[in-house]
Amino acid sequence: MVKISVYAIALLLTMPMFSFTKDFKHDVIIFKREVKSRSKVGMKPVVFPHKLHAESMKCNSCHNQLFKPKLGANKITMKKIMEGQACGACHNGVKAWPAFHCDRCHRGK
Ligand code: HEC
Ligand code: HEC
Ligand code: HEC
Repeated sequence: MVKISVYAIALLLTMPMFSFTKDFKHDVIIFKREVKSRSKVGMKPVVFPHKLHAESMKCNSCHNQLFKPKLGANKITMKKIMEGQACGACHNGVKAWPAFHCDRCHRGK
């Protein structure tokens, strides 16, 4: 009996800790991948404010339908974005500002 309640208290104490644990590592993710095609047209790397997005919407607005939650696991192109996939699922002038504001994403670093 004593043993059980000790476990129960331990569980109660650790539960809030779990819910406050942030479950991603990078608050800001820099996309400096598509080097060739970006440099051809002089576009800087993309600065993606991950935390900012995660604060104003649910994780499942993006994971795993639009993006795999793993650094480097997603290939993003402007063709996809303009067709309404990846960032373009929202940055289409409806849910968020449209993708023709190149420099808002290609801010470099
Ligand atoms: C909503 C954010 C966003 C906006 C706005 C945006 N891009 Fe991108 N773009 C990306 C992301 C993310 C990638 C992938 C970058 C990487 O992996 O390095 C990318 C990649 C690219 C690439 C390389 C891959 C490819 O498709 O050839 C080019 C070139 C590019 N963007 C040009 C542009 C231009 C030009 C504009 C404005 C008309 C623009 N981008 C607006 C997010 C954006
Ligand atoms: C607006 C879309 C969006 C939202 C909302 C979002 N993410 Fe992400 N997440 C991304 C993108 C894009 C990447 C980058 C994947 C890559 O590098 O190819 C990423 C990467 C990750 C990664 C791997 C990198 C890291 O920082 O550890 C994890 C884990 C992750 N997300 C978890 C979450 C969790 C948990 C939430 C909610 C609290 C969340 N994400 C909300 C788009 C989003
Ligand atoms: C699920 C919807 C969604 C997706 C997917 C999404 N965004 Fe956003 N993003 C938003 C919303 C909503 C805002 C706030 C828009 C506003 O203020 O008008 C925003 C704002 C931004 C901002 C401006 C942040 C600031 O400092 O004000 C940047 C930069 C940005 N997004 C880049 C990206 C990139 C890059 C991707 C793809 C890797 C992406 N977003 C994917 C919804 C999304």
